[in-house]
Amino acid sequence: MSERFTAPQDDALYLQMCAEIEEKLRRAAPLYTRRYPHVSTLPAEGLRYTPEENNLWTSSFLPGMMCLAAKRTGDAAFLQYKDDYLASFKARLDNRVGISHDLGFLYTLSAVALYKLTGDEEARALALRAADMLCERYNEKGRYIQAWGEFNVGTPYVKIIVDTMLNLPLLFWAGETTGNARYADIATAHAHTCADYLVREDYSSFHTYLMDPATGKAVEGRTHQGFHDNTTWARGQAWVVTGFALAYTYTKEPRFLEVSRKAAEVFLQNLPADFVPYWDFTFNDHIPDLRDSSAASIFTCGLLELAQYADNAEAAQDRAAARTIVRSLYDHYFLHDPDRAGVLTDAIYHRDTGATCVIWGDYFFYETLLRLLGGDKCFW
Ligand code: GLY
Repeated sequence: MSERFTAPQDDALYLQMCAEIEEKLRRAAPLYTRRYPHVSTLPAEGLRYTPEENNLWTSSFLPGMMCLAAKRTGDAAFLQYKDDYLASFKARLDNRVGISHDLGFLYTLSAVALYKLTGDEEARALALRAADMLCERYNEKGRYIQAWGEFNVGTPYVKIIVDTMLNLPLLFWAGETTGNARYADIATAHAHTCADYLVREDYSSFHTYLMDPATGKAVEGRTHQGFHDNTTWARGQAWVVTGFALAYTYTKEPRFLEVSRKAAEVFLQNLPADFVPYWDFTFNDHIPDLRDSSAASIFTCGLLELAQYADNAEAAQDRAAARTIVRSLYDHYFLHDPDRAGVLTDAIYHRDTGATCVIWGDYFFYETLLRLLGGDKCFW
């Protein structure tokens, strides 16, 4: 593996990339105060984001990028709309808009991030309300947090999904800040259930698993955004790597470290020549299809989280792999126009929606840069 990943540490280049992203953020800030970017238009329509209502799973990523920018630069200008962000995310909880397993993404990168940066107690209280609402989706019998839909109402089954791993840091944080062990107990139980069913024996992953809400029994693996039930959706595998690495950071449960490490090996083995994965591991340079640059940037964050727990040689390989992927993303998939908020091209949400910028790919790319420059797990 080490011979494949050759990009050297290049702080000057990472700082240049950060500066380009931060210029985009300065220009985007007034356009996205209570409405947020999600998925851009297609290349033929200019790869432009439009401000969307705060009712999607992605609404927190732009505020999260502003928080990363404030953290990196110390420039409070990036937080000039923080009261709008908090008002918007409070209204979302008050009106129970789009309440789902994604409360972790939504409130970690808005309320928790703002609390960590500013000490604002209202932000902390808001994040704790979100954590409580996420716990309402916990099925005690099955020991899982339900994805999508009305709680415990299935036809006849409900689903768990790998994406939910990134929602667990909200619960781990809530446990730490309140001293209430129930939050971490739920998060830990859910992670074990994901490891039991969503992660296959060879450490590839199902995107989703059907669960019987009455008995809590697992039924079978399915996909939602991947190619086929039995293939591996690249972004799902990236959620596994990063989610289990973060779960290990909080719990020090050896199983979570092993899952993240082995899943990372699967991800690396499936990288094509330019180090940016096709959207499902069914595809490769011989059978090409669209790439998903967002899977690459989620993965590099997870790999750098994982590197902290590796011995020197393995950690050096992890960092070399992350640097090489970042270099390819910058050389081939970076949108340099400062007036377009999107950072990375060639991401896909659903295969049918085509290759676009997506705000979560931009977020994780920027977080990766902060990590390469010596940062920690940021707001997770
Ligand atoms: N969490 C939704 C997705 O990855 O598309």
